[in-house]
Amino acid sequence: MITLKAATPTAWVSAVLADFDAFLIDHAAAEKKASGMAISMLSHYPDKPEIVRAMIDLSIEEMTHFREVVKIMTQRGLQLAPDTRDPYVNALRKLMRKDSSDYLLDRLLIGGIIETRGCERFGLVADALPDGELKTFYDIITRSEDKHGNLFVDLAALYFDEKNISQRLETLLEEEAAIVLKLPITAALH
Ligand SMILES: [Fe+2]
Ligand SMILES: [Fe+2]
Repeated sequence: MITLKAATPTAWVSAVLADFDAFLIDHAAAEKKASGMAISMLSHYPDKPEIVRAMIDLSIEEMTHFREVVKIMTQRGLQLAPDTRDPYVNALRKLMRKDSSDYLLDRLLIGGIIETRGCERFGLVADALPDGELKTFYDIITRSEDKHGNLFVDLAALYFDEKNISQRLETLLEEEAAIVLKLPITAALH
């Protein structure tokens, strides 16, 4: 179970609501990247069947989210934009240790943290939107992302002991809180 150490500032929700089209374009990119990350994970660990199975399902689910966001974008006359670097994800990736065992643990825990932050932010968007299709969509996305955080921690528990997981998670969560509070407030997921 992952509990974030810093709440997203309310100014972020206002920025999203002020330019929802920009947010949708960025959200689509984030779903596509999440699907790609799941594929890259299963490619990196072909000898770990639990990871392979979980990442097949996750990549499909994230791609389904991507399809749904693109559908909403199309209804609004929006197009996908070229990929840009995600400062939040890049800052977290820099925390991954190089040793192969540490790297697996860090990769799983950071994956779980990214999912948990996404869930928090989609929940804020869902709460802020007026009743309607968009709000329902973001409620569904929030529930879906809520499961993904735990998925990564459950995978970590297959390969690492509880103390190792909780200590590293604590450190990574502190780092993540510092990273998230330094992010510029824009109509983007991160
Ligand atoms: Fe997703
Ligand atoms: Fe997800």
